[in-house]
Amino acid sequence: MTKHIVTTDDDPAIRKVLSIILKKAGYLVTACENGQELLDFLKKPDQGVDLLMLDIKMPGLSGFELLERVQILYPELPVVMLTAFNDLDTGMKAIRLGAADYLTKPIHQEALHTCLKRVLSESEKNKQQAYADKESLAIRKKLESDLRHAQLTLQQSTISTLEAFSETIEQKDPYTKGHCHRVRTIAMALGKAMNLSEEVMETLEGGSILHDIGKISIPEEILNKNGRLTKEEYHLIQSHPLAGEKIIAHLPMFKRYIPIVRSHHERVDGKGYPDGLTADQIPVEVRIVSLADAFDAMTSSRAYREALPTEIAVEELKLNAGSQFDPQLIDVFIEHELYLL
Ligand SMILES: [Fe+2]
Repeated sequence: MTKHIVTTDDDPAIRKVLSIILKKAGYLVTACENGQELLDFLKKPDQGVDLLMLDIKMPGLSGFELLERVQILYPELPVVMLTAFNDLDTGMKAIRLGAADYLTKPIHQEALHTCLKRVLSESEKNKQQAYADKESLAIRKKLESDLRHAQLTLQQSTISTLEAFSETIEQKDPYTKGHCHRVRTIAMALGKAMNLSEEVMETLEGGSILHDIGKISIPEEILNKNGRLTKEEYHLIQSHPLAGEKIIAHLPMFKRYIPIVRSHHERVDGKGYPDGLTADQIPVEVRIVSLADAFDAMTSSRAYREALPTEIAVEELKLNAGSQFDPQLIDVFIEHELYLL
């Protein structure tokens, strides 16, 4: 495609010579007499200018003033400056200010052609690179948006699956109706108050819904027994964290919930089950679910006892801060009045 070069020089002789040489070389040429004429020309739509040649010393706007304006208005348009004979300092200044190159007067045809060829080819490469960057940015944005959408869909379907699981547990034990949901609400509020990362919050949400999944392996008559449990029955109930882990261990999407399912009956003093872990061995999301689970269990009616009033349950939490529960979490729970949820 024919390249369009716009020259600006106040000297009519130079304008004429440049036009002849450039046209002969196959360029489309527009010659302007001064800076204002050039700016007015560039303002017109669809001029398709590929390169500017600016004389430095001109009445009105100087070449440097023009260079500055052109760089702001048309940052991708390459500019070649024309300087007086042997004026190396001015030439270097032009390059420093952003000109693509400079030529000294009188202009030698060979130097002119070499310079224009190089500048136009570089400008073409830059244009292609800018286009490719724009394309890849658009593709990246689209991929990121698709990925976000897929993640959201997956997250929603994971939560729906978890809720279906928790309903299975609740059907076996009517006294725990809504328990998983309430544990999730309290746990998420605690996690938010603790400023946990988004990733931990997601684990906390799924884990709190799923924490008692192992109870589906325990016979209903034991879960709902309205009387003292035998030692064997008690042991069986205590096996639900490990049973739960076994159930979800085969499901890759649920693996992240294993610590909560396995360890939500651990105590910070190491007297919990199944592993007797101590505070620093129990991840924060597990400590949160333990607290939320215990608080909701205390404030809900069970087959074997009535619900405790909220204030008594809160006192119970305080009494067990540092033994069963993480004391820092109890402070946050009370400070944020999460017992009102
Ligand atoms: Fe449990």
